[in-house]
Amino acid sequence: MIFKSLKLKNIRSYENLEIEFPKGSVLLSGDIGSGKTSILLGLQFALFGLQPGQKGASILRQGEDNAYVQLELEVEGQLITLQRTIKKSKSGSITQDSNIITIDSVIKNLSTSEMKNQVINLLKYPKEFVKKSNLLYKFTVYTPQEEMKSIVQERPEVRLDTLRHIFGIDRYKRIKENSQILFQKIKEQVKIKEILASELNLIKEKFNSENEKKIILTRETNNLNIEYQNLMLSKQKSENQLLDSQKILDEKQYLKSELGKLEVLLQGKKDLESRMKKEVILMQKQIHEETTFSQERLDSVLEFLNKHKKILEEKNANFLKITSQISVLDSKKERPLELKNKIVSLENCPTCLQKVGQDHKCRIEKQTQYDIEEIDRELEQKINQKEVLIKEIEVEKNLIKGYEVDKTTFQQDKIRFEHQRTILTKIKSDAFVLDRTSNEIKELNIKIQQTKDKIEIFSKSQEEFNKIKKDFKEINEISRTKELTIATKTKELELLKIKLKELSEEIQKKEKIREQVNKLRTLQDWMQEKFITMINLTEKNVMAKLRNEFSKIFSEWFSALVSDSLSVRLDEDFTPIITNQDYEIEYDFLSGGERTATALAYRLALNQVLNSILSQIKTKDILILDEPTDGFATEQIDKMRDIFEQLKAEQIILVSHEEKIEGFVDHVIKIQKDTTSKIDNQNS
Ligand SMILES: Nc1ncnc2c1ncn2[C@@H]1O[C@H](COP(=O)(O)OP(=O)(O)OP(=O)(O)O)[C@@H](O)[C@H]1O
Ligand SMILES: [Mg+2]
Repeated sequence: MIFKSLKLKNIRSYENLEIEFPKGSVLLSGDIGSGKTSILLGLQFALFGLQPGQKGASILRQGEDNAYVQLELEVEGQLITLQRTIKKSKSGSITQDSNIITIDSVIKNLSTSEMKNQVINLLKYPKEFVKKSNLLYKFTVYTPQEEMKSIVQERPEVRLDTLRHIFGIDRYKRIKENSQILFQKIKEQVKIKEILASELNLIKEKFNSENEKKIILTRETNNLNIEYQNLMLSKQKSENQLLDSQKILDEKQYLKSELGKLEVLLQGKKDLESRMKKEVILMQKQIHEETTFSQERLDSVLEFLNKHKKILEEKNANFLKITSQISVLDSKKERPLELKNKIVSLENCPTCLQKVGQDHKCRIEKQTQYDIEEIDRELEQKINQKEVLIKEIEVEKNLIKGYEVDKTTFQQDKIRFEHQRTILTKIKSDAFVLDRTSNEIKELNIKIQQTKDKIEIFSKSQEEFNKIKKDFKEINEISRTKELTIATKTKELELLKIKLKELSEEIQKKEKIREQVNKLRTLQDWMQEKFITMINLTEKNVMAKLRNEFSKIFSEWFSALVSDSLSVRLDEDFTPIITNQDYEIEYDFLSGGERTATALAYRLALNQVLNSILSQIKTKDILILDEPTDGFATEQIDKMRDIFEQLKAEQIILVSHEEKIEGFVDHVIKIQKDTTSKIDNQNS
């Protein structure tokens, strides 16, 4: 990686800065407080953002609410731009705001942590360094001005810890700690598993004894099954016999009921026969006296009867007519009599009021007498006619009476005659029925005898049935008992099998656990005897190798900076030991320049060792040194030229007050500060 350019807005002493970083050695020169370190801090912020514990106020220019940093860099020919902003909230807290990364013109807006991961990836810093990324940058690229000497002066154990940390040696410590945890876990597991695997032999013995039982029981069950099969055959046979016997019984029962029916039928027929015989005798008695009857005679009587009834009707009508004529004549006789009596008694005429004369009265009397005689004659004639008619009517009535008697006699004869004919027909038909019935009675008697004969054949069937049934019941009972025994034994066998399966599973499980215990024990032994020793040894070797290399490089850089009389090496704790011709000199007793030289040599050696261990990291080509020559004598400063050449970095950014150094570097950038820092010139 090399830096290409940097833009700062409202960062520390800068309002606006645009600075380009050429390749080679670049000197940032300027007075105290002019803004040199601010540029280096700007670079660091652009790369990694605010560091844990770093306050926003150490970056944001006082009195401003936001700041912006844009860094252009090149990693393996790839141009990358990083942009970050800071903002100050109303409450006064200062936080990081947006993060943008542009790789080959592809712009990505990222969160602060995403941006950090992205940069770590780009620089190929090891994953385990993600959390201590800045530490790696601090010791390989840029150590802040005031921290240059701190690692040299630090307490040995703190320094050792820091070095172990950045060399990645602390991983061995972690491995040991984790191994110890694992070792304990394995120990616990072994204990638990040993308990789980205990009693294996006991269970095996139990399995064997149960298995013996199973074999015996299986044999027993098989024998029982064979016996049962035979029993089933006998049972089947007995059942068939029983069914046949039952059929015979049913047949017998059927015949008995048929016999009952036939006997009932026979009785019915017999009853019918005797009843009919009695009836026939009775009927024969009824037709004993034969009745004669002539229809012609009856018809002629009826004819006479009708004829005389008509005559009687006519006579009656005449009688009525004459009777009414007689009463009319009787009433006719009364009127002239009344008139004669009235006129005879009358003095004066009621109409003309003239006196009624005697002659008139006599005349009237005579006339009346004549009229009455006339009526009487007619009346006498009519009365004679009536009397004749009464006699004639009487004659007719007697005639009719005689005919009525004849009619009744003839009709009764007819009824009797017809009745006798009906009885005769009935007697004939009954004779036929009687004949048929007596035949049926004969047939029924034969049938009844046949049925009785058949029933006789089955006389012993019930006893046989009872015997067969008894035999069947016995077999059934035996087979049921057998079934129960088989079921009990089978259940017992099943339970035994389940138990054996469980035991076998338990044995397998325990054997597996025992196997695991053996494996774990081997692992435990290996960890205890080999692994941890090996890690200790590896750690020691790595540390020793690093220390040797570090010590050698440190001594070389130191010799390049200080006179030949002084020499340095590192002790076990990586503490620099300075000797002057075999005498050790304490660091604090060294001159200011010697102390700076020791710190710079330590810093350069550390940088070199780290870069060689972490061969893949992309920050090997760049080195930043902030005031590395503080307190140097002139001849020491002269030596810096050789140092820069030996460093062979593609880009070195150097901060120094020393004007002399301007002559050793490829580029000088002068910085001035008024109210705000600015670049005075940027020349090569
Ligand atoms: N947050 C800030 N806002 C404004 N100015 C600041 C802020 N922090 C520091 N300064 C000032 O910015 C100026 C530049 O500081 P810087 O550390 O960059 O100086 P320098 O050039 O490295 O000086 P030296 O040679 O002494 O190391 C100083 O005057 C310092 O007080
Ligand atoms: Mg400074």
